[in-house]
Amino acid sequence: MEITGAIEEVRKQVKEWRRQGLSVGLVPTMGYLHEGHKSLIERAVAENDRVVVSDFVNPIQFGINEDLATYPRDIEADKRLCEQAGADLIFHPEAAEMYAPDFSTYVEMQKVSEGLCGKTRPTHFRGVCTVVCKLFHIVMPDRAYFGQKDAQQLAVIRRMVRDLDLDIQIVGCPIIREEDGLAKSSRNTYLSREERKAALVLSRAVFLGEDLMKKGERDADTILAAMRSLIEQEPLAKIDYVEMVDADSIEPLARARGRVLTAMAVYIGTTRLIDNFIMEV
Ligand code: PAF
Repeated sequence: MEITGAIEEVRKQVKEWRRQGLSVGLVPTMGYLHEGHKSLIERAVAENDRVVVSDFVNPIQFGINEDLATYPRDIEADKRLCEQAGADLIFHPEAAEMYAPDFSTYVEMQKVSEGLCGKTRPTHFRGVCTVVCKLFHIVMPDRAYFGQKDAQQLAVIRRMVRDLDLDIQIVGCPIIREEDGLAKSSRNTYLSREERKAALVLSRAVFLGEDLMKKGERDADTILAAMRSLIEQEPLAKIDYVEMVDADSIEPLARARGRVLTAMAVYIGTTRLIDNFIMEV
């Protein structure tokens, strides 16, 4: 496995693979890799001849009061995980390699990026779309892999690929959870012991919502009220949103119908965590 911070090196390597007729998968990450990322890399390894993992904490997707400076980083551990998972190349650029001092071109999306996380993080998806578009142009993969934990991000990227006619297959992969239910996230590392326990309220709310829908409940208010009330019982939790939307358009739903995304963002102390479930009804 190779590691490089240079765009030109990635291009050279991918060109060589292409010359040999090999297919290429890309797993975009911000590093501090965990089992969730590993499952994406392993899937990419199973479905492609060669796999590139990008490991880049993308500054332009963080708001001014967000955790860019403290976002966890551990490139040595990331290298080990990528190696174990069977990746071929890690692209680990400096911010200056990705963004010239006079960088001024952004990919901006309406609607799909405006609800849910877009309400409290109004510049987030512009940063995500811009960096993912750049990564797509650098690596030119056949397939790119994203986790369903960031369900809105997945919907946004699928829409960008459709709207901009990018010839890349987007593969969404299931949420990976800790044994006790907490969705794996690099930000879980911010939680104190007490907060780690309190954070279980997110997955409990997900399981409750899922259960209600499996039993036939379709009214969004009823399902969301039950989930909110469960979360509100946890003193360390503060709801940002709990909503039911169409999983592709991110339009709010009054009744569950079609591919339904029920998603939440909840502060546990100062850490903002997200979780969700998707059900076809
Ligand atoms: O999901 C992430 O880790 C990031 O948003 C992504 C897709 C790597 C873009 O920086």
